[in-house]
Amino acid sequence: MKWVYIEEISEYQDQDIELRGWLFNKRSGGKIRFLLVRDGTGIIQGTIFNPQEESPLFKQFDELTQESSLIVRGKVKEDKRAPGGYELEIKEIEIIQIAKDYPITPKSHGVPFLMEHRHLWLRSQKQHAILQIRAELIKAIRDFFDGRGFRLMDTPILTPSACEGTTTLFETEYFDQKAYLSQSGQLYNEATAAAFGKVYCFGPTFRAEKSKTRRHLIEFWMVEPEVAFALLDDIIKLGEDLVVFIVERVLEERKKELDILERDTKPLEKVKKPFPRLTYEEALQKIKKKGSKMEWGDDFGAPDETMISEFFDKPVNITHFPLSAKAFYMEPDPKRPDLALCVDMLASEGYGEIIGGGQRIHDLSLLEKRIKEHQLPKEAYKWYLDLRKYGSTPHSGFGLGIERTLSWLCKIKHIRETIPFPRLLYRIYP
Ligand code: 4AD
Ligand code: MG
Repeated sequence: MKWVYIEEISEYQDQDIELRGWLFNKRSGGKIRFLLVRDGTGIIQGTIFNPQEESPLFKQFDELTQESSLIVRGKVKEDKRAPGGYELEIKEIEIIQIAKDYPITPKSHGVPFLMEHRHLWLRSQKQHAILQIRAELIKAIRDFFDGRGFRLMDTPILTPSACEGTTTLFETEYFDQKAYLSQSGQLYNEATAAAFGKVYCFGPTFRAEKSKTRRHLIEFWMVEPEVAFALLDDIIKLGEDLVVFIVERVLEERKKELDILERDTKPLEKVKKPFPRLTYEEALQKIKKKGSKMEWGDDFGAPDETMISEFFDKPVNITHFPLSAKAFYMEPDPKRPDLALCVDMLASEGYGEIIGGGQRIHDLSLLEKRIKEHQLPKEAYKWYLDLRKYGSTPHSGFGLGIERTLSWLCKIKHIRETIPFPRLLYRIYP
């Protein structure tokens, strides 16, 4: 019999097939037994009908426990009432391994327990749905950039220099030198953009965030486009196009998973261009009126971001932050040199920043001055300064955080559920 996956079961109506998977649940009623089998692509109900209690299939049924691995063979039957629309009339069961005392039972468990068993928790329906959407999101992002002629450039993870400030750097030994885990591929993207015009990198990034929040991971994935000759406005529009594209794709392709998560999709359906734009100062005024204690020069805290996003029913772009609150490479606004030509995009529904980016300094002497002011070691940035010596151009880019974006798309409270194995302040296990 042919081994098939549950997601393609509709192609095998009235045929005998084989499924390989795990027991999700079981129940019995009179002369009939029901097995819920999952194979990673879906869950199907298998039925065993036998008028004699002595049936060997019934014996196997009794033996099976939650998460036991098995192969089932039988005939695919359409059944409108069944979840997924199909059932399997089981003719044979081959037990591979009996799982004894699977720790995650249908009753509810506390988060610490689940995090401790993350390697098993991934099998539960909700976690499975989130990670299916994650894979779709990543595919959508790649399709978006590849479809627009951006070249994928993989940037290094071990680096000699900081991109986003030195307080969150992870230091490691590099033979007889020091190295840091990458906080962002941006600086390297600036070099590849001068070689390829428009590029993106996509990979894991690392920040030793000392605060415990619902929005921060220590290891997270970021997609970062960089475009030579682009100005702030170009990159804001690119960010809007990207976000509209991924929202549409997820709504189209992952409806089943959004349903499992009970995600109300109406707010996502409103994610259309253009998004509202505010300057930092306008946003600050708005939230001060609502009681925020934030002062000019501070970065928005999570509650401030939530407050701002509540004024709108779409994501919002905030531009022109004080230079003093931003990284060393930010281009100053010629009209207000104390402000940066930068953008943070806040997701709707209170989810906070998903994009950070802007225009980069392209003048050599200004960049040298900033590196000094930020007390960064000049030698480590020598190659980066070369980019301003040999055909320097205005250029811009941004980074979109995958897990932040996924938290919002799935509307889940804590970022820890958006990556298979989250690295958190107090957790590196499993
Ligand atoms: O705003 P950030 O720090 O920007 C940069 O790293 C730029 N170098 C990117 C660029 O211009 N190429 O980070 C960008 C995004 C944030 O908006 C957020 O979505 C995500 O990365 N992010 C985090 N996500 C999870 N956990 C953390 N600790 C994060 N820090 C940033
Ligand atoms: Mg940021």
